[in-house]
Amino acid sequence: MMFRKKLRFVPFICLLGYACLLGNLAYAAENKLVVHADQGKQKINKFIYGQFTEHLGRCIYDGIWVGENSPIPNTRGIRNDVVKALKHIKVPIVRWPGGCFADIYHWKDGIGPRAERPVTINRVGGDVKESNHFGTHEFMDFCEQVGCEPYFCGNVGDGTAEEFAEWVEYTTSDGDSPMANLRRKNGRDEPWKIKYWAIGNEQGGRKYALTYLRFRPYLREYSGNKVYSVPSGPVGLDYRWTDLLLKMASEQMDGLALHNYAWSGERTQSAVNFEEDDWYFLLRRSFRMEEHIEKVIGIMDKYDPEKRIELVVDEWGAWHEELSPGEQPADNYQQNTLRDAMVAAIHFDIFHRHLDRIPMANIAQTVNVIQAMILTKGEKMLLTPTYHVFDMYKVHQDATYLPSDLECGTYTREAARTFTISDESRDRPYLDELGPLYDIPVLTATASRDNEGKIHVSISNIDPNKATTVECDIRGAKFKSVSGTILTAPEINTHNTFEKPDALKPEKFEGAKLKGDKLIIKMPSKSIVALELS
Ligand code: AHR
Repeated sequence: MMFRKKLRFVPFICLLGYACLLGNLAYAAENKLVVHADQGKQKINKFIYGQFTEHLGRCIYDGIWVGENSPIPNTRGIRNDVVKALKHIKVPIVRWPGGCFADIYHWKDGIGPRAERPVTINRVGGDVKESNHFGTHEFMDFCEQVGCEPYFCGNVGDGTAEEFAEWVEYTTSDGDSPMANLRRKNGRDEPWKIKYWAIGNEQGGRKYALTYLRFRPYLREYSGNKVYSVPSGPVGLDYRWTDLLLKMASEQMDGLALHNYAWSGERTQSAVNFEEDDWYFLLRRSFRMEEHIEKVIGIMDKYDPEKRIELVVDEWGAWHEELSPGEQPADNYQQNTLRDAMVAAIHFDIFHRHLDRIPMANIAQTVNVIQAMILTKGEKMLLTPTYHVFDMYKVHQDATYLPSDLECGTYTREAARTFTISDESRDRPYLDELGPLYDIPVLTATASRDNEGKIHVSISNIDPNKATTVECDIRGAKFKSVSGTILTAPEINTHNTFEKPDALKPEKFEGAKLKGDKLIIKMPSKSIVALELS
């Protein structure tokens, strides 16, 4: 579906008028979804369901790594409960070690016997001590346990091109060379296959294109290891910078990184204590990701009309600023509610609509940081509402995308029209660049067909007050049965806690019924529904 182009969304009142004109329609649905099941051409790359893990707060330490001697059940120091949960949602790829941390990370600090590794200071993570106990070998072990691909990010901040070159050699070379032999000495004979490499993170400044071009030749292809090179995206929405980077370096890149967070901010930064205006503002901001992506793709088209270069959204998510008791501000730990689940659903639907350019996206971050899948507290672990969306949407991984047209009503809040952006707002450049947007579609959806021929429809009603009905017309496919799950909650800020870890989780959905060759879906307010048709 296209939000503005293929996707036509028209006000509810017009749809009613249309239904009355037809007269003989026994039932008028408020919204209409037409899925073109005979027009699917491209696959939804499973890497769109990627993750990002950084040495920040308690993402790595506590969240993933507890050490071999921990009473928390682990395999070679890595938490079993977290690995099991990530396997369940089929995490396909994980970016590491940052983020900002990547540009201060010296990989040699994180290899060799752990007791001999230096303790360094994480200068971009609140100046906390970094034990370096989780390094290259531990990260690769984590990826193997989860069953996902690694995505490395090299240091162009205080690191050198030589250091980067040595990391590539250390990890991927099968030769008789100093770095390959050092890896063998550290217990790993075989080189790893590591395809995806970012070169720096959120690099501003006019000189970065030159830095990228200087580092790029050191990303060598050793021993049959194919590489995919991703230059940093801009800090914020700097389209001029993006234009310059593409102008200077487009021939030397496979992907281009794009980072964009949906900040809380107009009314409150709280992850859990918010009202309907805050719900609206954050979801509106999530929809705006599409405008941003289209602007960047427009620049890419200018320098790469054949669409060889891909857009790698390697950081995205909802970022709040409430400090939970016992947590440090720099740790970026935040709770996660039904609102965050909706943010995830909106983003996935946007990424799918641009699948010809977007092969990968990595939510920030997997555990305990920003929009996490998992929160931990000592030996306890809980799954967030966002985790459940990844679970419900995993059926789309590598499935054939089915183009659709969605006609739906809009959702808005008067607050949006009267709100003036404060000087403190971190969102200011974003809104200034893109202009006003008041009405957002009340529904968002994706349809795909999996390898077994089953059709999956994910559809979300973002209105927190009104239930709605969708008439779904699946053209070019026949089906006999429908089953589904739903994620919803009594309140917009319902969330899971260590005391009540299942306050919000997917339930069986009985609101979809076959009616002739149509499917009628009764969507409760603030709900995310996943349907399977066979
Ligand atoms: O994800 C947290 C931080 O946000 C990353 O380190 C940085 O790339 C971004 O600004």
